Amino acid sequence: MLVRMLTGIVVACAGWGLMGGCGPAEPPVSGPEGIYLLHCAQCHARGGEPGGPSKGMGSRGPDLSHVGSYKGRNAEYFAAWIRDPRSVDPKARLMPAFKDKLTEAQIQELAEWLAAKK
Ligand code: HEC
Repeated sequence: MLVRMLTGIVVACAGWGLMGGCGPAEPPVSGPEGIYLLHCAQCHARGGEPGGPSKGMGSRGPDLSHVGSYKGRNAEYFAAWIRDPRSVDPKARLMPAFKDKLTEAQIQELAEWLAAKK
């Protein structure tokens, strides 16, 4: 009986292993948060949860954790900004345009997610 239980745990862990590790490893994140972690968190580390300075990636971009509450920041603004920051603010120098890296659906998803960050 005990052996059967242990075997079950080992098999479950092997399954997790394929998906990124057994034990405390974070489960894979999907949706706008997953896109954010992959493409944005290295610069906007403090701006998005759960990425943060603890990931040791630094934070060159502004804090986005309440960006949806700033004046004039709605989903259309964010979508335009993500496609090409220069189209919104010619002075933006560091953030790359994402119109060729993300699909329009991903940009929309991210834009709405950011707009909800109040
Ligand atoms: C290479 C670093 C870098 C990456 C990658 C990056 N950003 Fe930025 N982001 C910046 C910087 C720096 C600024 C400030 C403007 C400038 O100088 O370009 C900025 C500004 C912004 C703003 C404007 C905030 C406001 O108040 O209007 C938003 C929104 C934003 N980034 C979202 C994103 C999203 C979403 C992604 C991922 C798809 C992303 N950023 C990826 C560096 C980055």
